[in-house]
Amino acid sequence: MILKKNRRKPEPGMTAPRDLTAAEAEAAPAPCAPPEGQVLEVYPVQFSITLRLANRDDLPRLEWFGQLIHYRQIFLRTFADQQAGRRLMLVADVGNFPVGQIWIHLSDAEYDERYRQRRGYLYALRVLEPFRGKGIGTRLIQRAESLLVERGYRWSVIAVTKDNNAARRLYERLGYRVFTDDPGEWQYVDHLGNVHVVKEPSWMLQKRLQSEPAAAQTDRPVSEE
Ligand SMILES: CC(C)(COP(=O)(O)OP(=O)(O)OC[C@H]1O[C@@H](n2cnc3c(N)ncnc32)[C@H](O)[C@@H]1OP(=O)(O)O)[C@@H](O)C(=O)NCCC(=O)NCCS
Repeated sequence: MILKKNRRKPEPGMTAPRDLTAAEAEAAPAPCAPPEGQVLEVYPVQFSITLRLANRDDLPRLEWFGQLIHYRQIFLRTFADQQAGRRLMLVADVGNFPVGQIWIHLSDAEYDERYRQRRGYLYALRVLEPFRGKGIGTRLIQRAESLLVERGYRWSVIAVTKDNNAARRLYERLGYRVFTDDPGEWQYVDHLGNVHVVKEPSWMLQKRLQSEPAAAQTDRPVSEE
């Protein structure tokens, strides 16, 4: 196997660098080589996280350097829906970069009929990996709930795939309870025009929203009205 990583065009007058063989790349380090991954310094930083609605400039950044590029069309459509008042795109911003995202589907006729209640549907919650476990997901959900309360919603609904126990625990800690399941079938067109059919069997969880500030909400069971 030939490794071509980091291959650069040679400067004029220089010979081209030879490709490393796999054996060379995996060779034991020389005795004088520094320990791989050696920690040189650790220092604390403090920064603010801003929760805000997405703007047009966020659209390319929401792709997280290519990680979510396949959702480009979805981001565009969701943003158009935000402009039309049908959805909200809430982001957690660090240094003008959206490190966390959650979308809110505001209740529409189809949802009202399906659930017999005016419900806001929270979805597409994700936090960029290095920023996980720091409370951003929790704050995004709580702020999304506040946005629903401000708009007169009494219920919030969220789905979680059946294999995502960690996220389900998080939602249950925030007061959500499973009320049904869903085949989780949907499809999207990626940035290259390919259609993807997704099947993600999911639990549907709901929460009765309080009118107090979201942070004061208690973790108590909810019942269907
Ligand atoms: C789930 C997710 C949004 C939580 O965001 P977060 O900022 O890490 O959440 P918080 O710091 O507020 O809370 C951490 C909780 O999330 C849970 N969690 C779920 N997936 C996690 C992950 N990949 N990394 C860290 N924590 C995760 C933790 O177990 C923790 O709950 P616990 O305290 O009961 O153990 C984030 O982990 C994520 O983006 N995961 C991948 C995408 C995903 O699974 N989204 C949910 C789709 S339903």
